[in-house]
Amino acid sequence: MNFEVIGTGHYAPENVVTNDDLAKFLDTSDEWISTRVGVRERRVCTTETTAELAYRASKNALEMAGTNPEELDLILCATISADDASPSLACNLQKLLGAECPAMDLNAACSGFIYMLETAAGFFARGTAKKVLVVGAERMSRLLNWNDRSTCVIFGDGAGAMVLSAGSSYLASKIYAKGNTDVIRIPHPQGMSPFYKNESEEPFVLMNGQETFKFAVNAMTKDVQEVIEKAGLTQEDIAYVIPHQANLRIIDSAKRKLSIPPERFCSNIERYGNTSAASIPILVDELNRDGKFKDNDKLVLCSFGGGLSSAACVLEWKCR
Ligand code: ACO
Repeated sequence: MNFEVIGTGHYAPENVVTNDDLAKFLDTSDEWISTRVGVRERRVCTTETTAELAYRASKNALEMAGTNPEELDLILCATISADDASPSLACNLQKLLGAECPAMDLNAACSGFIYMLETAAGFFARGTAKKVLVVGAERMSRLLNWNDRSTCVIFGDGAGAMVLSAGSSYLASKIYAKGNTDVIRIPHPQGMSPFYKNESEEPFVLMNGQETFKFAVNAMTKDVQEVIEKAGLTQEDIAYVIPHQANLRIIDSAKRKLSIPPERFCSNIERYGNTSAASIPILVDELNRDGKFKDNDKLVLCSFGGGLSSAACVLEWKCR
């Protein structure tokens, strides 16, 4: 026993920032960003907190699932940009929803949402949860150095959510980590202890773009093949691949290395940028609401990011 998805939702802040908007204060251009990364615009918070993004996405998912917050047995949030170090984003979300269940966060950077699906699967396997809310929510805009054109043009803010109920849709999965601080890192502020001697660093995304790119393509290709095999399927059986939206060229490179027909790879990075742990559930919700999924469609979700981490799973979609 694991789970099936009974509702999806997403929310992104209203403020749309185009590449041309960025070019007003950065030495960049729409042409560079759209050809190198695949982003044309992203949503950026003006007043919204990460918890508010998570709340709105969750409300949409709960409404689709016909589930009241009081029915939830567990809230799981994947994030690297919670509003507070404590309470967790999940506890802040629980308060906004008026739910009464256990709630916790997980940091696996962009791979966090699939890590949380894996966590949820464990609760269902033990029979300790009947309804679980899983959320990926990020306010990446507060983790960016807005003077660094090599990182700030890539990311965006948003949240996506799924409501899970007991079922058997989670056919196979893989979660992976290889500790590395050289490729992607976001330092925490060091605080004000008069006794701590290390120099403090700015708490913004540091990224070696080309190394990230190589890790991402390799991880995605390997993980997708592995989970399809674990599920006893072939690449031809896969209806859609829903990859983490980090860079369109990463998705294109992985496409060329796999034998899944290219039109089955989904993307919305053009409109949202890289929303880290939120990118997969935002994309799943858009496709779901567009009526793209048929009953029993096999979907592959895959992600990679800071950690370094990667994750992938195969879901058998159930139409309701
Ligand atoms: N506008 C214009 N020029 C730029 C910009 C910009 N926004 N950013 C960098 N450049 C310049 C560089 O300064 C460099 O100039 P130079 O040749 O004069 O030195 C030139 O463009 C090429 O720079 P590269 O870094 O070699 O560009 P590359 O083609 O590798 O693209 C990018 C950079 C987009 C970051 C790419 O490496 C990439 O997408 N990597 C993966 C990043 C990723 O996936 N991140 C997400 C995972 S992290 C996470 O999810 C938390």
